[in-house]
Amino acid sequence: MVPVLDMPVPKNRGWLERVVFRGIVFNMSWEDPEMDRRAFNLTDRDTVISITSAGCNPLNFLCQTPRQLISIDGNPAQNAILELKLAAIATLSHEEFFDIFAARRPTVIDRVYRSQLRGRLSRRSQEFWDKNLKMARRGLYNYGKMGFAARIVRFLLPRLGISRQQTEEFFELRTLEEQKIWYDQYVAPRFWGPWTRWLCESRWFMFLCGVHPRQLKLVDGRHGIYDFVRERIEYVLTKVPIYDNYFLSVTATGKFRDNRVPPYLLDENFEILRRTLNRVLVVNGWLGPYLDTLPPASIDKFNLLDIMDWMNTDALNATWKSILRAAKPGATLIYRSGSYQFEPPEWVREHLQPHSELAAELFAVDRSATYGSFYIFSVPAVVSDRLLAAV
Ligand SMILES: C[S@@+](CC[C@H](N)C(=O)[O-])C[C@H]1O[C@@H](n2cnc3c(N)ncnc32)[C@H](O)[C@@H]1O
Repeated sequence: MVPVLDMPVPKNRGWLERVVFRGIVFNMSWEDPEMDRRAFNLTDRDTVISITSAGCNPLNFLCQTPRQLISIDGNPAQNAILELKLAAIATLSHEEFFDIFAARRPTVIDRVYRSQLRGRLSRRSQEFWDKNLKMARRGLYNYGKMGFAARIVRFLLPRLGISRQQTEEFFELRTLEEQKIWYDQYVAPRFWGPWTRWLCESRWFMFLCGVHPRQLKLVDGRHGIYDFVRERIEYVLTKVPIYDNYFLSVTATGKFRDNRVPPYLLDENFEILRRTLNRVLVVNGWLGPYLDTLPPASIDKFNLLDIMDWMNTDALNATWKSILRAAKPGATLIYRSGSYQFEPPEWVREHLQPHSELAAELFAVDRSATYGSFYIFSVPAVVSDRLLAAV
């Protein structure tokens, strides 16, 4: 059974964050794993720490056989998804695993949950899935707050003039020229307008989309949330190949398309995942306090998603201190931001080597359409406690 560590729950979380980010929010990890793979170039000597979200990207990393994978999330419901996936990898066939987590035949979960999966879950995740198994049975991508937001999008598309058939045709297009023609014909004329502006400017719809209140303030305050969403969606629909864009396919059509799925769902990776399960540790807790429990200089790769957008200045500085303390010499860290620019604080940048060219190259083909910027840094040398104490 994969070990699960429960960290003390911090008391200083805002009520809105506690309300919005309770239960499953992210039914899929919205970070493009191809960007992470090329940014990290993982080896089997690496210790990787990743924010869990829906567990997709931690498992994509495991496909690359790191020495150890630590997957951490402050929301235990997110780790409950990962634990269910790990239990399925350990006990089911790839066909059954794909049926459930690619939502091809999700009702398979009823036959295997009690007999094969439940016994491999932590007590907390057993309690979660005993109450919420219908989410897996009816297809995970329809559930969680983002699942609900995606259903609203699928309800609105035909009412904004984009028929289901036109949407299905779009995901089979093979060239950017064809995508631009389709966009100019079906999206540009009708999609953007008072309805989409109302939706984008609705705080609650943005919370449903997994946008943290502090992140919304950051993006809307700097860029105007409607203009930001419009620019990001227009970019990904016309400038990034759509054929293998499973993020948008699941959102706009509710399903993956044949084998156009995240790497961890592919048959060719199943045996790799099964034989490396013993390298995984799942942590229910917040990144900073957890890193402070580790020996200094013990992590090679940090996958931070957009957690920096969620933090106030004190939490940001404290988390950066913990990251720099836990970073091995030569460690690599990657993060995203909703804002078009969200550099680390100056005192942190002194200890970092940016890889801006590679970050820009990878961001240009980001299939998720979620973020305004992407960062890759390495930590050339150990940052001593003495230095960090001075901050
Ligand atoms: C940052 S969020 C956003 C994910 C991304 N926007 C998406 O759409 O998939 C991803 C996860 O990070 C977790 N999280 C946020 N800040 C964290 C922290 N400091 N430590 C651990 N988990 C954190 C949240 O609970 C959430 O499940």
